[in-house]
Amino acid sequence: MDLKQKTYLLVTGASRGIGREFAQQLSQRIQSVGSLVVLMGRSQPLLEETKANILKESPDLSVRTFALELSTARAEDFGGIIFESLNHAKAYPRHFQRAVIIHNAGTVGDTSKRAREIGDTVYLQQYYHTNVFSAIALNCQFMRIFGDVPKLVVNLSTLAAIAPISSMAYYCTVKAAREMYFRVLATEESAPGTLVLNYAPGMIDTQMTVQVQREAHDPAVVAMFREQREAKTMLTPPQTTERFIQVLEAQRFKSGDHVDYKDHDAA
Ligand SMILES: NC(=O)c1ccc[n+]([C@@H]2O[C@H](COP(=O)([O-])OP(=O)(O)OC[C@H]3O[C@@H](n4cnc5c(N)ncnc54)[C@H](OP(=O)(O)O)[C@@H]3O)[C@@H](O)[C@H]2O)c1
Repeated sequence: MDLKQKTYLLVTGASRGIGREFAQQLSQRIQSVGSLVVLMGRSQPLLEETKANILKESPDLSVRTFALELSTARAEDFGGIIFESLNHAKAYPRHFQRAVIIHNAGTVGDTSKRAREIGDTVYLQQYYHTNVFSAIALNCQFMRIFGDVPKLVVNLSTLAAIAPISSMAYYCTVKAAREMYFRVLATEESAPGTLVLNYAPGMIDTQMTVQVQREAHDPAVVAMFREQREAKTMLTPPQTTERFIQVLEAQRFKSGDHVDYKDHDAA
C-alpha cells in the first residue's frame, strides 16, 4: 500500500498510548499538502500535545483536535466532527485519495471482577457504549460521508478478542463484539475500495496495561504483566506502530483479517 497519498486520517484515542503513536507515525507517511488529520480523545491538552508533535515533523499538515466522551457520544456527534473538520479545511470528501479511520480508543474495564460478577447493567451499558456502540456509530458516519472514496478501516484488536483471559470478562466480550462487527463490514464491503484490518498490537507499555497489573483479580495475570514489564518484553507504542506500518505497506492481509504483531508473514 502506498501511504503517501492525499489522506483524511481520523484516529480515536489519539491523546496518549498507542493512538498517539499511530497518529504521529502515520502523519509522517501520508502526503503533507492536502491531507487532513483528525485527532479524537477526551483530554484536550493531551490532544494538543499530539498535534504539536505531528506539526513539528510535518508543518504543512492540517490537524484538528476534538474532545469527545465516547461513553455518551451519539451518531450525530461523530457526523458533526467529520463535517466540521471538512468544512474547516474547505475540503469535500472526494478531495482525498484515501480516507483512513483508526478505531483505537478503548478501555479495559473492571478487571477486579470475575465473569460471574459483571452483571451491573448500568456499568455494562456505559462500558459497551464506550467500546462498541461508539466505534460502530462513528464507523457508520465515516462510511456514509466518504461514500466511494477508497477507505482503510482499522480496528485496534487484541488476543483478548479471540481468546478468553481471566480477569478480562468485560474486555474480551467488547473486543470480540467489535472485531466481529468489522469482519461483517469487510464481508459486505468486499468490492475494492474498502479495506478492513483488525490489528492486535501485542502487549504494550501504556496506562491500560499498568491498570491491569494493578487491579486484576487473578494473581497469574498480574504476574504475567509484571514479568513482561520488568523483562522489557512488553513492547513500546513506537515498536508496535512500526510493525503496523510494515503490515500496511506489505498489505499481505485480506480485508477483515485479524493480524497480530507476532504474525511475521504479515509484514
Ligand atoms: N496496551 C496494550 O497492551 C493493548 C493490547 C491490545 C490492544 N490494545 C488496544 O489498543 C487501544 C489503545 O490502547 P492503549 O493501551 O493505548 O490505551 P490507553 O493508553 O489507556 O489509551 C486509551 C485512549 O482511549 C481514549 N479513551 C479512553 N476512554 C475514553 C472515553 N470514554 N472517551 C473518549 N476517549 C477515551 C483515551 O483518551 P483520553 O486519555 O483523552 O481520555 C486514550 O487516548 C485500545 O483499543 C486497546 O484495547 C492495547
